[in-house]
Amino acid sequence: MDKILVHGGNSLAGSIKISGSKNSALPILAATLLTREPCTIHRVPDLSDTHYMLQILTHLGAQVERASGIVTVTADKVQSVAPYDVVRKMRASVGVLGPLLGRCKEATVSLPGGCVIGDRPIDLHLKGFEALGAAVRVESGNVKVFAPKLAGAVINLRGKFGPTVLGTDNVMMAAVLAEGTTVIEGAAQEPEVCDLADFLNKMGAKIEGAGTRRIIVEGVSELHGAEHYIIPDRIEAGTFLVAGAIAGTGVTVNRVEPKHLTAITDALSGCGFKIEAKNQSITVSPNGAPKPLEITTEPYPGFPTDMQAQMCALLSTTEGISVITENIFPQRYMHVAELKRMGAEVQMEGATAVIQGVERLTGAPVMASDLRASAALVLAGLKAEGVTEVSRVYHIDRGYEHLDEKLSELGAHIERVKA
Ligand code: EPZ
Repeated sequence: MDKILVHGGNSLAGSIKISGSKNSALPILAATLLTREPCTIHRVPDLSDTHYMLQILTHLGAQVERASGIVTVTADKVQSVAPYDVVRKMRASVGVLGPLLGRCKEATVSLPGGCVIGDRPIDLHLKGFEALGAAVRVESGNVKVFAPKLAGAVINLRGKFGPTVLGTDNVMMAAVLAEGTTVIEGAAQEPEVCDLADFLNKMGAKIEGAGTRRIIVEGVSELHGAEHYIIPDRIEAGTFLVAGAIAGTGVTVNRVEPKHLTAITDALSGCGFKIEAKNQSITVSPNGAPKPLEITTEPYPGFPTDMQAQMCALLSTTEGISVITENIFPQRYMHVAELKRMGAEVQMEGATAVIQGVERLTGAPVMASDLRASAALVLAGLKAEGVTEVSRVYHIDRGYEHLDEKLSELGAHIERVKA
């Protein structure tokens, strides 16, 4: 298992091109199952999660061709069973349930395991499928859905932690080929949901309201092939902006959609950093001593849970007391114990982290645990005294395209060692 060594102390400067969004590419690749015609998707990021999704599509019978970031999928014939050994690697595999139900009127997918950010239920996905007329059975670790036919329905997908992103995606993909009209109330508003709806509409679906709490799907009889460009990855962009805040003298992220990053740039401005957004670029620059902050993670357009760990790393060395409350995944604090090994002073109170900023962290061997926590540890190492050794970096490779190489381009002293 590779390790990443971060030699703290270098300043970051310059610009970096942001990749296509992982969390948009995964459901859009799953959506190609809804037609037998070829679909060409551009800007698919080169990540282990997207590789896993392509493996699943291949296993389901689709032809998959990939030339750098361009993927063509032809799901002429598909079978509807996605077994454990492919699904267990990635929770987002549940995203094939909706298109398989829509296309084949049945699907069997191994239940996703939990993961370190907490239990990852799919009860809201299943509630949506049942509302469309599917029968749902959970047996020996698999979830089976089947329906003689799918009929439009009014469905509220909001759970106790708010909307569900993949649940909204899944129900939308099952509804596009249902008979009649489906109304999804309490829908997730994330840009990735909008990107999926845009792609489905290019395939001939009739979806309105994506990006609002209420999505309306007019069922059609079939979908055709389409070509699509994935939106930029707002979480990768946010991660690099926080890297620039921690150790930068001026870091620019290019090929981004600034309006997708408002909550993140507002937080960095709240810390006192200078933010300049121009066309498809955003620059973060130091602007005096950073200020402590209170952050609460919320569904989009609120502050994203996927940026919570990265902000913990920044606020660990921001003088004063900062408070972060995690409302989406209350257990999503695996990074805190590791940051404390580097000298951070964090007090946990339930789903709230109270951070007393310290002068400087010290490098230490730390353990990556989930995708964003691992990125946060690399960011913390950028300004720490000495070397931070991050192990289990396969977590990082799941969701960041060459994070270490991109940080090196900005001036970080960072190396990947084969362990
Ligand atoms: C998506 O996960 C993202 N993953 C996550 O990003 C992101 O953290 C999350 O949305 C929230 O924004 C992808 O898009 C592939 P949810 P998803 O369903 O859809 C609860 C990353 O780092 N819930 O929106 O699985 C759930 O437990 C990953 O890129 C139910 O209770 O998340 C959570 O508390 C991590 N029942 C809340 O809702 C359900 O049926 C939001 O989860 C579904 C979810």
